[in-house]
Amino acid sequence: MPPLLKLNNIGKIFSTPQGREVSALEDVNIEVEDGEFISLIGPTGCGKTTLLRIIAGLETASAGEIAIQDNQTGASSPLCTLVFQQYSLFPWLNVIENTAFPLEMRGIPRRSRIKMAEEYLELVGLAGVENAKPYELSGGMQQRAAIARALAYDAKILLMDEPFGALDERTRHRLQDTLLEIWRKKKKTIIFVTHNIDEAVYLAGKIFIMASEPGRLVEDITISIPRPRNRLSEEFTNLHLKIRNFLEKAA
Ligand SMILES: Nc1ncnc2c1ncn2[C@@H]1O[C@H](COP(=O)(O)OP(=O)(O)OP(=O)(O)O)[C@@H](O)[C@H]1O
Ligand SMILES: [Mg+2]
Repeated sequence: MPPLLKLNNIGKIFSTPQGREVSALEDVNIEVEDGEFISLIGPTGCGKTTLLRIIAGLETASAGEIAIQDNQTGASSPLCTLVFQQYSLFPWLNVIENTAFPLEMRGIPRRSRIKMAEEYLELVGLAGVENAKPYELSGGMQQRAAIARALAYDAKILLMDEPFGALDERTRHRLQDTLLEIWRKKKKTIIFVTHNIDEAVYLAGKIFIMASEPGRLVEDITISIPRPRNRLSEEFTNLHLKIRNFLEKAA
């Protein structure tokens, strides 16, 4: 069977208003199997967000092809959804309305979409705050709501751009566990961008390490440590060190 997602020699050149050309991505080749948890890690400006935006169809590549095998997806459920670093909830809607919004877009009747939204909020640990407005929530809770809303799209592939970057370590660790549970239960495919080596090693089955100027892949590492992973174990800390060395070379 072909992979769920295949990127073939993807390149992206941006032209700045000053007429300079930036090679944001060069010759990126990635294959993602259905149900994989992939992490992209690399220095600032190496093209991580650009790559996610190309996969999501928000940006066109200047070179190469993308093949997505979508025969399992129904017409009403999209293939990809993107979760941003900033929570991007609608401030005028409460938590349950925010979560149910994609379901409304898909034409699901009110009663069913509220019920489904409640299920997603339960899954991310937000039962009980359905009627709160985003400004009444902490950053961690807003990020949970954004994840619930992304899940409500029921897309096959979740693209996550440093979704936990703004959170304190404890909240970040809790959300990592929540995300792993959702990934397992809902059988999602996840592409997760992070700056944080610990986060990548804790979450991913495979890590792609990127370098900048031009943005490119320099290494991929498969992680077979069983989950839940112990951050203090020797294999965890060894991997951490190995990736740090690659990143230092890549910077
Ligand atoms: N719309 C744009 N116009 C011009 N240049 C752009 C545009 N978007 C991104 N770039 C450039 O492309 C390169 C890659 O940017 P990108 O945002 O993908 O990096 P990133 O890896 O996500 O960085 P960070 O870790 O800081 O989020 C950078 O040099 C950036 O300045
Ligand atoms: Mg980025």
